[in-house]
Amino acid sequence: MIVALLNQKGGVGKTTLALNLAGEWARQGKRVTLIDADPQGSALDWSEQRGHGGLPRRFGVVGLARDTLHREAPDLARNADHIVIDGPPRVAGLMRSALLAADLVLIPVQPSPLDGWASAEMLALLSEARIYGPDLAARFVLNRCGARTVLARETAETLADHDPPVLGTTIGQRVAFAAAAQTGRLVSELDGDPPAAREIAALTAEIDRLGLGRGAP
Ligand SMILES: Nc1ncnc2c1ncn2[C@@H]1O[C@H](COP(=O)(O)OP(=O)(O)OP(=O)(O)O)[C@@H](O)[C@H]1O
Ligand SMILES: [Mg+2]
Repeated sequence: MIVALLNQKGGVGKTTLALNLAGEWARQGKRVTLIDADPQGSALDWSEQRGHGGLPRRFGVVGLARDTLHREAPDLARNADHIVIDGPPRVAGLMRSALLAADLVLIPVQPSPLDGWASAEMLALLSEARIYGPDLAARFVLNRCGARTVLARETAETLADHDPPVLGTTIGQRVAFAAAAQTGRLVSELDGDPPAAREIAALTAEIDRLGLGRGAP
């Protein structure tokens, strides 16, 4: 399955969730490749830092920040159970290409009612990609949910019938994500089984239950 983390908004958690989802599937023994489709190269930086720290390689990170991505991804997918694409903020061409490659697009959003969750352009690109791939699935994932999760839950319920729907698993505002990333780690590699690691495991399980992509039941 090819899952792309996309949102034109910066700093919503695309890279954080892409790395940790990839890490969780790898931990389960799946063959995983992460495509860094962001010219900023944050996932590549993480991978490099990990190497410097002498940490074991869990999955390959490939830099593919070009809009031929959708033509190159299927080749990579042949040798992987999961491809995770870390998308760029803003760049429409790259976003379009990632949408064409994906079986599932996950749109991380912060559950603020004052926020337009996905820009009109993002939704337009999604509709456009569905002309070529009508089976392209899309879901919002609520990230950085604070103590006021009641709000997040209400918002999730309100939007459950919408397209794209909202995943039931939400990710909290947790320092573990930043702390892990700073040292080239995944939240599952931190001591003490932090809640962040359990949230990522739950998110992965919910995505698996969607049963999308090649080799799906
Ligand atoms: N659930 C979370 N709890 C706490 N911090 C988080 C969480 N998710 C992301 N962050 C932090 O927020 C910052 C932005 O996250 P991230 O880099 O994943 O966003 P992004 O969407 O990839 O940004 P960009 O658009 O610049 O690529 C990072 O410092 C990251 O550690
Ligand atoms: Mg990023």
